[in-house]
Amino acid sequence: MSEARLIFAVDYAALISRFERQFGHRPAFLSRAPGRVNLIGEHTDYNDGFVLPMAIDREVAVVGAPRDDRRIRLYALNFDDEADFALDQLQRSEPADWSDYPRGVAWALQEAGFDLAGFDGVLYGDVPIGSGLSSSAAIEMAVFMAFAACQPALAGLDRVRAAKLAQRAENAFVGVNCGIMDQFVSALGQAGHALFIDCRSLDYAPVPMPGGTAVVVVDTAAPRSLAASAYNERRAQCEAAARLLGVPALRDLSPEIFAQRRAALPALVAQRAEHVIYENRRVLDAVAALRAGDVATFGRLMNESHDSLRDLYEVSSAELDAVVEIARGVSGVYGARMTGAGFGGCAIALAEQTAVDALRDAVMREYPARTGRQPSIYVCTANDGASWRLLT
Ligand code: GLA
Repeated sequence: MSEARLIFAVDYAALISRFERQFGHRPAFLSRAPGRVNLIGEHTDYNDGFVLPMAIDREVAVVGAPRDDRRIRLYALNFDDEADFALDQLQRSEPADWSDYPRGVAWALQEAGFDLAGFDGVLYGDVPIGSGLSSSAAIEMAVFMAFAACQPALAGLDRVRAAKLAQRAENAFVGVNCGIMDQFVSALGQAGHALFIDCRSLDYAPVPMPGGTAVVVVDTAAPRSLAASAYNERRAQCEAAARLLGVPALRDLSPEIFAQRRAALPALVAQRAEHVIYENRRVLDAVAALRAGDVATFGRLMNESHDSLRDLYEVSSAELDAVVEIARGVSGVYGARMTGAGFGGCAIALAEQTAVDALRDAVMREYPARTGRQPSIYVCTANDGASWRLLT
C-alpha cells in the first residue's frame, strides 16, 4: 500500500512501470474512466427523469496487455490485491470486493453476446472510494474500455449501449439497484461541460459550465451505512406512487397535474413523489439557466434541490446539511447541495473561482467543530468520459 499512497493523481507512467514489474512484459493499452458529481436531478434517473451530472477530473485507469487465453489477471494498486479469474467461470467473490465490478462487466458483455479476450492489467484510481463520487461506475467503464482495447468488435460500440451494459453489470451481477446516471456520464461526459440526460430516451446534450466558476466537492467523511436499504425503499415508494396514479413513471407527471392528484396517495408516498416531480422541473429550469448564462438562478435551483432532498425525500444527513449551510454562508457561493444517493458522501457548491479559498477556509474551520469529522475538499473540473488508447 505504500506505493498507492505515493501516487496521488493517476500517474500513467508509474502504472506502466508497475505493470512491467508485476507481469514482466510491456503493456499494450491504457484505458480510463472518470467519476462524477451530479449538479442537479437527484433520485430522478430511476423515475425515467432528467439529470445533470458532470464527469470529474478524478478517474480509474487500467494499463494492460491482451492474453492469448480467457483469463483476467488484474492487480488493483489501491488495494494491493490481484484478482485472477476465468471468463468462463464468472462468479461474485466471497466476501464481496472491488473485483466484482470487473467480473460483472465481463459477465454483462458475455451475456449480451460479445466474445471477450483475456488480459493482464494494473488498475489504479484517484476517485475517492465509497464517497458517492461513483468510483464503482469509473471501475466499470475503465474495465469496459480495457475489453474494448482487446476486442475490435467492442471498440466501436455505441457509448450509450456501453453505459447500459455497465449498469446491467452493477444491477444484475454486483446486485446494486442503481439507475443509469453514473455509468452514462462516466461513458459520455465532455470536458468543460455538464451532461443533460433524459433517462427515459437516453438522449443527452452537453451544456457548457459557466466560466469563472468552480465546482467544490466536500467529502463529509461520514459513513453511508443506510444508503443501500434507504435507496431501495425510496425506489419502491416512487414506483408505488406511479402505480397509484396510473402512469408508467413519475416522469410522466407535471407539478401542476400532481398538485391535482396527490390526495390519492398516502402521505409519505406523496412526499417522495413531490420531490421527484419538482426535481425534474428544476433540472429543466437549471439547464435553461445555464444555457442563458444565469448562474444565480442555477445556484438557487441547487439550493432548492437540496432542501427538497432533506425535507421531502429525506436522504440528507446532519453532515451534508452542515456543509451546505456553511457553504451558503460564504459570499460568492451560488448554491450548495448534497450530490449522489445521500446518507453521507459528498456535498457540492458552485462558487465564483475567487470565492474558493474563502469557502475552503470556512469548511475547514466550521465543519469539524460542528460534526467532529475531518472533511476532504476537491475542486473539480468537468472531464471527458471513458477512453482507451494503444501504448507505443
Ligand atoms: C446513486 C445511483 C444513481 C442515482 C443517484 C441518485 O448515485 O447510482 O443511479 O440514482 O444515486 O440520484
